[in-house]
Order: sequence, then structure tokens, then C-alpha cells
Amino acid sequence: MVTTEPKESAAKKPANELAIQFGSAWEYAPAPETPDHVKIEPRYELFIGGKWQAPHSKKYFDTISPSTEEKLSEVAEADATDIDNAVKAARVAYEKYWSKLRPIDRGKYVYRISRALQEKARELAIVESMDGGKPIKESRDFDVVQAAAHFFYYAGWADKLAYAFPGRNPRALGVAGQVIPWNFPLLMAAWKLAPALATGNTCVLKPAETTPLTALLLAKIIEECDLPPGVVNIVTGAGATGAALVGHPDVDKVAFTGSTDVGKRIQKAIAGSKKKITLELGGKAANIVFADAPLDQAIEGIIGGIFFNQGHVCCAGSRLLVEESAAPAVIRKLKDRMATLRLGDPLDKNTDVGAINSKMQLEKIRELCASGEKEGAERFSAPCAMPKRGYWFAPTIFTGVSQSHRIAREEIFGPVLAVQTFRTPEEAIEKANNTMYGLSAGIWTDKGSKSFWVAQRLKAGVVWANTYNKFDPSSPFGGFKESGFGREGGRQGLLAYLEVD
Ligand code: NAI
Ligand code: MG
Repeated sequence: MVTTEPKESAAKKPANELAIQFGSAWEYAPAPETPDHVKIEPRYELFIGGKWQAPHSKKYFDTISPSTEEKLSEVAEADATDIDNAVKAARVAYEKYWSKLRPIDRGKYVYRISRALQEKARELAIVESMDGGKPIKESRDFDVVQAAAHFFYYAGWADKLAYAFPGRNPRALGVAGQVIPWNFPLLMAAWKLAPALATGNTCVLKPAETTPLTALLLAKIIEECDLPPGVVNIVTGAGATGAALVGHPDVDKVAFTGSTDVGKRIQKAIAGSKKKITLELGGKAANIVFADAPLDQAIEGIIGGIFFNQGHVCCAGSRLLVEESAAPAVIRKLKDRMATLRLGDPLDKNTDVGAINSKMQLEKIRELCASGEKEGAERFSAPCAMPKRGYWFAPTIFTGVSQSHRIAREEIFGPVLAVQTFRTPEEAIEKANNTMYGLSAGIWTDKGSKSFWVAQRLKAGVVWANTYNKFDPSSPFGGFKESGFGREGGRQGLLAYLEVD
């Protein structure tokens, strides 16, 4: 069952030569999305109690486009006083309106948000790509679509909670404090708001400081959808704002997605309180490729799983475990495919790899890659031309990686793949599980029975077989170990926002 690879002459050529060969064959004319019709305001206030309010501190901070380093807008920095106002507004909205609505009417509001997202899909995709650096084909075909789908899906549950948990008397918790990261700004807002609203909670949501714009556009959409004031409050700011929100005594539920470090800090901060908490943290997923796998399909999955969206994905397949006999073919095919990846303008529809989200993140990726070289792994970076301005990092793979290397253990959150080999399925499982994380994994094999056998032994919340990074609102998502706890999506995702008997 071992796939044998013809020894083409290309395999012996140095990678750079391959890049030139493939690069010229695959060139497309630029096809940028025009941002002309998109209106980004010069300044955004806080959305509290259905009104746009200036921050108590009177302070604002810039949000830039990481692909051009240009300032896009400035947003309010909420302090503890603003957070207190937002939580109070959410409490009043909960007591006065939201908990009194018939569930079917709550559902109608949530449907309305979904439809409005669909209507404004193009604008949202463009702003997402400008503010965060991700390619428009990602934001247009994945982020915005999934965000709308999420509201649509949870809207349907609003009046069916009794059927979701029969005989268990499901009840809303009250006010949810939600903090989200910069890798899927709109989609994470949807993952947080949709189930919370459908189950009857009110929300205070804080987007990440580098990517606040689509959450603010979502606030405008929610305003247009006529939700009762205070049901959704959007407050901007950095870590201190997030800490004030999750620590607020009148928050009943904390939902956080972000780094494991901050997740641990939040858990400590609220220990002893009655707050219900879900944490979706980092990952170090392994893609396991057996020699009997459809290799070309696997290559696409591996490439998409780590390089698209610049590896800014918590479930990114950042480790590749490949069966030793197939390793030379897989690595050669990977390098060939890497040479055809198009890096550049996120607004160009042909772009595969956009900009790194921030200078800080770029520095973190560089530092970890330098450690990989220093610790003895062999580095290959796709020979992409880099734009002069902005934050960019060429898709990179490391071979000769051992388990003790930092690049095999730490979350890089960039377009960097660490390749290791294995000889037996047991060894693959042991290596895949040898991490403090447990968010996701991929299995590539021709044998269905082998997929199931391996999947049962992987300590990962999501396991994909012969595909990668596939999402659906009806499918629960979440981690094991230091990847966090609680599930988002599906019927399980309702439970994070309900009390049941
Ligand atoms: P982070 O965890 O600091 O930021 C995530 C969110 O938490 C942001 O909205 C931030 O303002 C907020 N925050 C920061 N400190 C807080 C606190 N003490 N209390 C409450 N909220 C707080 O992540 P950061 O620094 O942007 O990225 C660092 C690393 O984290 C990345 O390099 C990556 O490895 C990982 N990461 C993982 C993500 C995931 O989805 N699993 C998402 C983003 C980052
Ligand atoms: Mg930005």
C-alpha cells in the first residue's frame, strides 16, 4: 500500500529553481477587491446600551492595516468605568427585555442578524482583510459566510431549548462577558454572540485591539436590527479592558478565546466566583500522513491547514507527522506546492497568504524560527517576493525536527510547519499526543478503519480525516488539556450559556 513516487528530475533541483519554474507558470494578473464603497469611519466610540458613547478615559487607539501599516481608524479605549456601564446596560436589558421575550421572538432577532450579515457580506470581508491582513478569499468565503451561518443555526435553537435538553429545564445565565482574539475577528464574535443570544443571555463583547473594526460594524448591524438596547454591548480596548470585563462581579458567564497564558490568568482571576467559564485556547495540531494516503490531496490539506490565513489559526496543522517511507515524496511535493503560493495584498482575490496580523506577532514568529535553526532543524522558506511595507512572513517548513525543539512544542501562530517522521501508527499517536495542547488533529490514509483506530487514540477535540479545517455551525469545537474546555458550536455549544437541572 506504499505509494511509490517516480524519481522526477525536478526532485533533484534546488527548491529556488523550482520556485522560479512554478512561479512563472502560475502567475495571475492582479485582481484586487476595491475598497471604495466601504466606509470606515475615522473614529469609533463604544457601543453601550444601544448608544455610541465616548470612553470615560477620553483615550483612543489606532487600528492599522498590517499589510500597508496605514492607520484605518481609531477606536475608543474602554476602562473599568465603561465596562461597569456596559455590564449594567446588559443587566438592565436582561431583566427588562431579553428574559421577558418569547423564545421564538428572540430567535427572530438572531435570524435578522444573520440576514443582515449576508447582505453586508462584501463590505465585512473587505474590512476584515484590511484590518487583520487575511486574504479576501478567506474572509469572503469562510469568515463572513460562517459568521452568518452561525447566527442562522443558533436562531433555530432559540425556541427549541427544551428539546435540546429534555426534562432538564434549561435557563439562561444572565450577562455574558466575552473576549475574543484577532485571528477570526467577526467569526469569533459570531461564535460568542449567537449562542448567548439564542439561549436568552445578554452580552458584553470585547474584540482584540488589532482587529476591532468588524465587531464595530457588527454593532452597527445589531443597531439596525433593532435589538433592544443593551442586549449586545461592544467595548474596545486591550488586555486591561478584557481583564476588567471578565473580572466584573456582575458578569455571570465568561467566554474567552485566545492564548493559553491569558486563559490561565482569567481562570485564576475568577476562581471562587460563581461565574461559568469556557476557554478556547492554543493548539499544536498534528497532521498525520500515512504512506497509503492520497498524497496530493494530503498536500493540499497540509498547505491549507498551516499556510492559508498565515497560520493564524488555533487549530492550524502546525506539525506534520509523516510515515518515514513517504517522507521524501511528501516533503518534495510540499516544497513544490509552497513555491506556487501567492503571498501579498490581502485584498487580491488570488492571494493565498496575507499579512501577519501585527508587528508583535511577526517578531514572535521570527524568534521561534530562529530557535528552530539554532536547535538544529533544517529550514526551507518559500522564495516569495515580499511587499516593502507591512508585516510578512514567507511560508516555512522545518525538517529534521525533534520532539524537544521549541518549534515542535510551542504554538507559533504563523505560517510555519514542523515536520517529523514516524514508523508505526503507535509512534504517530504518541508523537501527536506529546504536547500540552489538544485542540485538533488530521489523519490522512486510504483506510477508513485506520482513521477510526487512530482518531480514537488522539487526545484532540476535533479530528479531521482526509481533509482539514472544515467547519460547520452544527459541529462542536473545543479542546483537551491546555487547549481549554467547553464546546462552541452545535447543541453542545448551547450548554455553555445555560443552566440545566
Ligand atoms: P491574547 O490572549 O493576549 O489576546 C486575546 C484577547 O484577550 C484579546 O482581546 C486581548 O485584548 C485579551 N486579553 C489580553 N489580556 C487579557 C487579560 N488579562 N484578561 C482578559 N482579556 C485579556 O493573545 P495575543 O497576545 O494577541 O497573542 C499571543 C499568542 O496567543 C499568539 O502568538 C498565539 O500563539 C496565541 N493566540 C491564540 C489564539 C487562539 O485562537 N487559540 C488567538 C490569538 C492568539
Ligand atoms: Mg488592525
